[in-house]
Amino acid sequence: MRFYLTTPIYYVNSTPHIGHAYTTAIGDMIVRNRQQRGQETFFLTGVDEHATKVYRVAQEQGLEPQEYADRIAVPWRELPKRLDAETDFFIRTSDEGHKRFVRDFLQRMYDNGDVYEDVYAGWYCVGCEAFKTDEELTEDGLCKDHLTKPEWIEEKNYFFRLSAYQDRLLALYDERPQFVLPGFRYNEARSFIAGGLQDFSISRAGQPWGIPLPWDESQVAYVWADALINYLSALTYAREGEDLRDVFWPVAHHLLAKDILRFHCVFWPAMLLSAGYEPPQQLFVHGYLLLDDRKISKSLGNVIEPLELIDVYGSDAVRFWIARAVSFGHDGSASVDSVRERYENELGNDLGNLLSRTTAMVARYRDGTVKRVEPDAPVDFDALREDVAGRMDDFDVTGALDVTWDAVRRLNQYVTAEAPWQLAKDEANDAKLDRVLYTLLDGLTALAVALHAYLPQSSAKILEALRQPAGFEWERVRNGGAVTAEGIGQAEPLFPRIELAATA
Ligand code: MSP
Repeated sequence: MRFYLTTPIYYVNSTPHIGHAYTTAIGDMIVRNRQQRGQETFFLTGVDEHATKVYRVAQEQGLEPQEYADRIAVPWRELPKRLDAETDFFIRTSDEGHKRFVRDFLQRMYDNGDVYEDVYAGWYCVGCEAFKTDEELTEDGLCKDHLTKPEWIEEKNYFFRLSAYQDRLLALYDERPQFVLPGFRYNEARSFIAGGLQDFSISRAGQPWGIPLPWDESQVAYVWADALINYLSALTYAREGEDLRDVFWPVAHHLLAKDILRFHCVFWPAMLLSAGYEPPQQLFVHGYLLLDDRKISKSLGNVIEPLELIDVYGSDAVRFWIARAVSFGHDGSASVDSVRERYENELGNDLGNLLSRTTAMVARYRDGTVKRVEPDAPVDFDALREDVAGRMDDFDVTGALDVTWDAVRRLNQYVTAEAPWQLAKDEANDAKLDRVLYTLLDGLTALAVALHAYLPQSSAKILEALRQPAGFEWERVRNGGAVTAEGIGQAEPLFPRIELAATA
């Protein structure tokens, strides 16, 4: 009944783009749904500051790295808020609590005999913040992801004996077939391990920006050896006076995209084992949200500013688009135009109009009062409740929304078929009209609860417009749960039309 979810901590070499908003928004949907089902949750996000690329941007701007990081942390902190993501803590890797914990963690690995000194000579891609083998480069010696030439590095480093963990990792994967989802990502990670593991450098000698190693202060921790540990360090100082490791470790679930699979699915569990901790419970590796079939990134110049989209359409609409535009888990293309299309056609017409029509009819035909009677069942909400919960547990965030939206459409078909405006013409139909109006009120109430994780603002507005008690307990997704309501007036449009000028 406890659930801890993390997003990657994002590099702060520039401001957030829609790809970062993507993981954070999806994470919030998953966590909210768990909360609705009574689970105790903790949701962590934050920023990764000690990267070489961050250090370089600070230099370019003529700022001390810490000062640069303090400034850019502001829009990053803003991101979850603007997305209406209810995070429990925002970690920065320059937090004193994190730095202290990382030093302790690395020392444990060292004391365990898993760290040794050697000379590193090889290629380093600053875009990936990763060391590259020749096989990982193109024929021309470029990084396959960034198509840039990596830098040659030759320095004394400390290495982590990852190779010694191959058998333990394979055993872990074999014992826990759900350790990494989806299945094809599990296979990818497992075959990487089975193919043989090389030790990796966990320190940098040539960079002053970072966390000094406790046993050799002349070196700083390699950015990944510092960043991954955030998932555990945060639990030690997020709430003053509490050690949440007792509560939320190892019930941790990590969300990440496929670009950082190896670090999370291979390096991180091995580091944890070395330092004497249990591996996390599960990792979900999702695909990319692509624009024009290309990954979004600053260097490719196809960035969408998430905050601007939110300014125009509101956070609910952006969240809805994120969940629905591409199937979560897979790569998928989406256009910015499709935000508008979904806003108008699905949110505005399917859901918004259903609420407007229902409340208008209740106001006109029944003076704002709907009595609780035995409803029709155009939607089987018991089945929906189970279906959505199961899908959310499997991280099928898009599928869960799809089946919920089918229910929205069935309720619309029900209004059309029952035509309450015809029933209202003859008093002989009074009982039937009461039943239809209650069925609509009841269906919209259940839908508001079912949609809460995706549309937190609109779902609250729906309950209010229908004069139903506040609260999104999952049991309220059922038939016949709405109470007698009085004082219903025609609701304000949930998704008002947006003039084109506003988007220009
Ligand atoms: N700092 C590291 C992560 C350290 S975690 C211990 C990093 N940062 S990042 O800023 O590059 O963020 C990468 C993550 O951002 C991806 O794994 C994914 O969660 C998210 N995304 C960035 N662009 C994205 C898309 N275009 N589509 C989907 N997710 C995207 O890697």
